[in-house]
Amino acid sequence: MSINSTKPLPFTKKQIGEIVKNYPTPFYIYDEEGMLKNVRKFLKAFSILPGFKEYFAVKATPNPFIMKLLKKEGLGADCSSFPELLLAQCVGITGEDVMFTSNDTPAREYIKAKEMGAIINVDDISHLAFLEKNAGLPDLICFRYNPGPLRGGNIIIGDPKEAKYGFTKEQLFEGYALCKKKGVKRFGLHTMIVSNELQIEEFQKTAQMLFGLVIEIHKRTGINLEFVNLGGGIGIPYKPEQKAVDYDKVAQGIKVLYEQMIVKNQHHPLKIYLECGRVITGPYGFLVTTTLHLKHIYKDYVGVDACMANLMRPAIYGAYHHITVLGKEKMPCKKMYDVTGSLCENNDKFAINRKLPEIAQGDILVIHDVGAHGHAMGFQYNGKLRSAELLLRGHGTVVQIRRQETPDDYFSTLDFKKMQAFR
Ligand SMILES: Cc1ncc(COP(=O)(O)O)c(C=O)c1O
Repeated sequence: MSINSTKPLPFTKKQIGEIVKNYPTPFYIYDEEGMLKNVRKFLKAFSILPGFKEYFAVKATPNPFIMKLLKKEGLGADCSSFPELLLAQCVGITGEDVMFTSNDTPAREYIKAKEMGAIINVDDISHLAFLEKNAGLPDLICFRYNPGPLRGGNIIIGDPKEAKYGFTKEQLFEGYALCKKKGVKRFGLHTMIVSNELQIEEFQKTAQMLFGLVIEIHKRTGINLEFVNLGGGIGIPYKPEQKAVDYDKVAQGIKVLYEQMIVKNQHHPLKIYLECGRVITGPYGFLVTTTLHLKHIYKDYVGVDACMANLMRPAIYGAYHHITVLGKEKMPCKKMYDVTGSLCENNDKFAINRKLPEIAQGDILVIHDVGAHGHAMGFQYNGKLRSAELLLRGHGTVVQIRRQETPDDYFSTLDFKKMQAFR
């Protein structure tokens, strides 16, 4: 019989027992030491690539405390909206340390990105006239490429030819030529093909595709690109039997292609950027939740005080998130449960048919690998309130980096006085 947890935790049951005295469950807790150790390993591996920079995908964990820690390590910010640009600005990430990648972009977002001196990554050729009219063309511009039928995608991001993002190949040539004519001086190229990808060959395929384009773009337009941004999408081992991506292997594979394609064709130096989110914060966030009810009908249910409004990935992607029953790590997984929240949606389940140790009311469950695209995807349907975010620092200290929402937050966009006078 299997044992409950083969995934390590950065805290003990005793520590969580102390933390819940001040911060009621459900809450997110991030492991600062683990996160920073990983970031340093990531940067060391990719530093073999010319001009390497990682632009942390803010959408993964849009918390300024986390962003401040990452900035200190040298990471920039990949922003996709006005509020994300404001977040970057408030932690002091500005200028070309910001990459602005959006789609269907409103004018004020282009204006703000331009004001901040961010690298604007344009999603469509028609946006060039829109950007010029509303914000003016910048000196440095980047285009997002969608290879369409030339590449397969993967489950989260989908098939490129069905995806709404980016320029076609022909549009790239046209766009670069047009911008050159209009006086734009510096150019970059971006793509984002896969998401949560564990196969390192996929990153090599992306590098090969973009390096090939760098050569072609030069032939067709005379432009020497300054950088390529290979996007995010490095996956994490959500399941205990999966293996983490070896950063060194990914970086070395890209480096070999760089020598073969970029150096050989005299396009060196070309800077290499990434904009990963998941692999930077994902494994270092945990959702801590308490068992409220045990229900036995046609199946056995464990009802916890978190719900899909706190973590939506299992419901929308069928994503696996490992669960540890705190203090029962060594107990045999004798029972099969669905672990559910309280939302009036039957897909509000953190796990379906999951073998776990016998659970009792009050048991604390830890849901793993929620540091990226976890709290960030939270919502308020059914009047559910977003949970707090805590940071576990060295020596076991805890800092609240976002408080729990209250009913006042939920009602803050409503004018009750106006409603009372309303006939
Ligand atoms: C344009 C873009 N860049 C980067 C990312 C980050 O992806 P990941 O967190 O999987 O690395 C995303 C994720 O949705 C994205 O849409």
